[in-house]
Amino acid sequence: MNIITRKFDTLVIGAGGAGLRAALQLSHADAKVAVVSKVFPTRSHTVAAQGGMNAALGNVTPDNWHWHMYDTVKGSDYLGDQDAIEYMCRAAPDTIIELEHFGVPFSRLENGRIYQRPFGGQSQNFGGDQAARTCAAADRTGHAMLHTLYQQNIRAKTHFFDEFFAVDLLKNKAGDVLGAIAYDIETSEKIIIEAKTTLIATGGAGQLFRTNTNASINTGDGMAMALRAGIPLQDMEFFQFHPTGVAGKGMLITEGVRGEGGYLINCDGERFMERYAPHAKDLASRDVVSRAIAIEIREGRGCGSNKDHVLLKLDHLGSDVIKKRLPGIRDTSLTFLGIDPIEEPIPVFPTAHYTMGGIPTNRNGEVVVPMGIGGEEVIPGLYAAGECACASVHGANRLGGNSLLDIVVFGRAAGNHIIDFLKSHHYHQILADDCIDEALARLERWENPLHKQDEESNNSSESYSVPQLKEELQQVMEEKCGVFRTEKVLAEGVEKVKQIKDKFEHAYITDHSVIFNTARVEALELENLIEIGLATVISALARKESRGAHSRVDYEIRDDESWMKHSLYYMNDHRLNYKPVHTKALSVDTFPPKERVY
Ligand code: FUM
Repeated sequence: MNIITRKFDTLVIGAGGAGLRAALQLSHADAKVAVVSKVFPTRSHTVAAQGGMNAALGNVTPDNWHWHMYDTVKGSDYLGDQDAIEYMCRAAPDTIIELEHFGVPFSRLENGRIYQRPFGGQSQNFGGDQAARTCAAADRTGHAMLHTLYQQNIRAKTHFFDEFFAVDLLKNKAGDVLGAIAYDIETSEKIIIEAKTTLIATGGAGQLFRTNTNASINTGDGMAMALRAGIPLQDMEFFQFHPTGVAGKGMLITEGVRGEGGYLINCDGERFMERYAPHAKDLASRDVVSRAIAIEIREGRGCGSNKDHVLLKLDHLGSDVIKKRLPGIRDTSLTFLGIDPIEEPIPVFPTAHYTMGGIPTNRNGEVVVPMGIGGEEVIPGLYAAGECACASVHGANRLGGNSLLDIVVFGRAAGNHIIDFLKSHHYHQILADDCIDEALARLERWENPLHKQDEESNNSSESYSVPQLKEELQQVMEEKCGVFRTEKVLAEGVEKVKQIKDKFEHAYITDHSVIFNTARVEALELENLIEIGLATVISALARKESRGAHSRVDYEIRDDESWMKHSLYYMNDHRLNYKPVHTKALSVDTFPPKERVY
């Protein structure tokens, strides 16, 4: 088969903040970089980030990176790697200034400095008063960052393959990763992109859950590619539920609302977070606030005729603050609920938001896999950054405002490491003869797919459409792997996701005579999501403790003796392996685990 081949120094898969920050570093160093993105780059999910990016600038309250590090380690429920966390928190202030110089239009204080708002889990002086550490561009920070990074990449002559879907990684005989095969969504052409180095930066998998804050593109494609390439996924049981999604619909209402002084109330008008987190109240970390909302509702103190949500009150902030600092969430509330938060509270409920686990990397963004007894090995030339990666700076629970930070710090670090790698790797290697066979077979299945009728006549059993199976998966994940979990419910979840995987063998994509390529892509995305769903629910069933976002009703206590370790899930045999947490920081003392109270 004749497939077009293009060669680059680096292939970046994904055009969100991590991919674009890495690409920019590389283009500035005159590397030949290709960015493949299944959507136009400025539609990548970074665009939806609202509240801001953490950096201890100290513009509003006294602050330093060491306090930021403490909060992040505590927020991670001590599962985060302290060396990586130190690296990120130390790098944050310079990273923000660099973004400002690239042109990100941050909101300003009266004195002209960058505006910073309080966010959950932030403190001064290692657990003292609330800090204000989140640098914001109103409540559209991700939008401002993504557009700036895209414009800078255009200026630096990064090459973009827009609306190309990366199907699978390519390897040589030795198993090194040398690029990817992609599918042009407009023309159906396939393309082989050979590269000396490959960076996966495809974002998270929020589409696993029925109610989520994520764009429909967040289907875990890069993580699934890694699994198919034999790479395990780390800490997949930790999925963050953001406390304030629009009730019943899921869209994000930024934590910045609570940072600006908004608060949650139950049906009695009670500010209930005072009971769950007497010190931090509504600005406790997300896992704590999400659980509190779920308990209020379970105990009958929910609002509305179905008592199925709580209310986020912000009218007392006044119209000026809302219009200046929170214009986006006012739009969202007006558009999707017909509620003006200047007048009335917003009905909210926890919603799936962020994949804490992902492709295991070190702090250079290099993909690392276990080797031998207790050892680890870097996969040469393969990198991952952003939500699809697990560095691991978020551990069991990410702090709000640390994801925009993660993507730029580790996107930049990966870019720098790749530049060094390229200095001693001048030539493209030869791909293995059969390296595209599996990907082609998967693509071919959807090129001439069976229709509903064909599928039914081929198999006496029932057939399923791709959208129907996706809905079923999302429903199962929501019911069986949500905020609170038990052995029984998780075990049912594993079985159900396995059944969905079997049903996918008999899936069809349309009843119509015309098939759009977007429907073909949806089928490939669903295949990816199913693998990520299995990784998540199997890892969750195995972890018999409660830590961060993983709340086991049947194992309520965090068990550091048995479970202070990262999980690694392998696709082929659904095997789990474990590796130690990096408890040693780079230059400061370790923060030892202690009871986590807010
Ligand atoms: O609430 C928010 O604005 C979300 C921020 C984040 O997830 O970091």
